[in-house]
Amino acid sequence: MAIGSTISDVLPLGSRLNELGRLEVGGCDTIELAREFGTPAYIVAEDDLRARARAFRQAGADAGRPDLQVLFASKAFPCTAVMALFAEEGLHCDVASAGELHLALAAGFEPERIVMHGNAKSVAELQMALRERVGLIVIDNFDEIERLRRLIEAGYGPLDAPGPGATLGQRPPEAPAGAAARPQEVLLRVTPDVRGQTHEKISTGQANSKFGFSVADVPEAVRRIERVQGLSLQGIHVHIGSQLTELAPFERAVAEVARLAPTIGECAIWDLGGGLGVRYLEAQPAPPPIEDYVRALLDAVRDPAQAGAGRLPLSEDGSAGGGATGAPPRRLMIEPGRSLTANGCVTLYTVESVKRNVSTWVAVDGGMSDNLRPMLYGARYEAHIADRPGGETECVLAGKHCESGDVIVAQALLDDPREGDIVLTPATGAYGYAMANNYNGVLRAPVVFCRDGDARLVVRRDTLDDLTARDVR
Ligand code: LLP
Repeated sequence: MAIGSTISDVLPLGSRLNELGRLEVGGCDTIELAREFGTPAYIVAEDDLRARARAFRQAGADAGRPDLQVLFASKAFPCTAVMALFAEEGLHCDVASAGELHLALAAGFEPERIVMHGNAKSVAELQMALRERVGLIVIDNFDEIERLRRLIEAGYGPLDAPGPGATLGQRPPEAPAGAAARPQEVLLRVTPDVRGQTHEKISTGQANSKFGFSVADVPEAVRRIERVQGLSLQGIHVHIGSQLTELAPFERAVAEVARLAPTIGECAIWDLGGGLGVRYLEAQPAPPPIEDYVRALLDAVRDPAQAGAGRLPLSEDGSAGGGATGAPPRRLMIEPGRSLTANGCVTLYTVESVKRNVSTWVAVDGGMSDNLRPMLYGARYEAHIADRPGGETECVLAGKHCESGDVIVAQALLDDPREGDIVLTPATGAYGYAMANNYNGVLRAPVVFCRDGDARLVVRRDTLDDLTARDVR
C-alpha cells in the first residue's frame, strides 16, 4: 500500500487515512475502534457490502436480466447482521445446513427466498427445510431423493399444514382437511467436469467431486425425482469452485448447463452458483469486476454454444443433450459469497510482542482462531499498522496459538512494529468469521459495523463463560 492518502484497493470502499494519519474504515478511526471494542475484531464497512450487493443486482439489470436473483452464499459470513443487510438489499439466501437456515430465518429472509444446499443433508435438516417451506432444495445425490420421498410420505412438507416454523426434528402437525398441497420445488446439483484455477480444496466442478450428480447420472436422477409425489423438479444447479479469477470456466459451466437442460423437463431455473474471486493483496492483479462477471454469465446463457466453443462433449453416449440446447431459463440465479463480503471487512489486532531471531516476529492477539485461511489454503494477506501504514521492515505476522503454522502473514512489510501497535489485515470478510473457532480457548472476535463514522457492535466477543456454557455437569 502506498503511503499518503492513496489507499489500497483491497480495503473496504471509502477507507482513507484521516488527518491524524490513521486508517479509517466506514468513517471510523481504527485506533479508536480498537480502543472501544478491543481486539481482535472484525470491522465491517456497511456501505461496502451494500454497494457490492447493488452492483450485482444492477449488473443483472444492465445485462438485460433485471430478474436475476442474487443469493448471498451465507457460508461466507454467516452472521445475522450481515445476512439481514443483504435481505434488506433484496438478495436471496443460500444456506448449507440447519444452522445457516436458522440464521437466514432469524435475519429476515422469507423462506421462499432461501435455497437449501448440502452434500450430506441430515434427515433433520431436510425436515426443517420442508417444514419451513424453503424456496428450493438443491438435491445432491440419489439417497437424498429417497430421504425426501420418505419424509414427504411421512407428512413433512408439501402435504402438511402451512403454519409457523417448527424446530429441527419436530413432528409435523396434522394437515387440515383440504389443505392445499404445494409441491416442494427442487433443483438438481450437477458436477459438469469444468475446472477453474483455484486451490484444490475449494474446487468443486471436477468429475471426481464430493458434490452433485455426475452428468451421466442426470437422466436417472430426473426419473427418480419425477416419481416422488410432492417434489417438483425446476432446474439445475452448478457451482464449480471458489476464488476463481477467470471468466472462461464460468462460461463453460453455463454451456454445460444449457446442454443438460433439455434432459430436465421444463428446466425453468438455472442456478449458476458462486465463485467469483477477489483481490487479497494490492500487488495481485484485479479479478474481473462484478459487472463483467455477470455480463459474461448472461451472455453465455443467451448463447451457450459460443460459451462452450472448443470444448469436447462431456458424455459419450450423448445423454446430456448431445449439444442441443433448449429454451433459456425462466429464472436465473447466482450465489456469490466471497465477492460480496471479503473486501468489506478488516481485522484489527494488537501487537503483543516483537522479537528478532532469523526473522522479525510480530505476534498479535489473534490468528488461526479468527482467520484459518492462511493455514488451510496458503492464503496471503496484507498487514498494516493502523497509524503508520506502509513500511519497509519485513516481518512475520504471527498469531498467538500454540503451533508454528499459526502465521497470518508470512512476509508483512510494516513500519517499525512495536508492542501495543494496532495492526489490521484487509479483506477478511469472507470465510474468516465463518471458520472462527476457540482453539487454545481463545475467545472468538466481535463483529462491528461502521457507517458514516458511527460504529455499532453486532456480534459481541465470546466471554470466558461461553467456553464452559455447553458443559453438562
Ligand atoms: N454456492 C455454493 C453451492 C457453494 O458451495 C459456495 C461456496 C458458494 C456458492 C459461494 O462461493 P463464493 O462466491 O464464496 O466463492 N472456505 C473456503 C471457501 C469455501 C467455499 C465453499 N462454497 C475459503 O475460505 O476460501
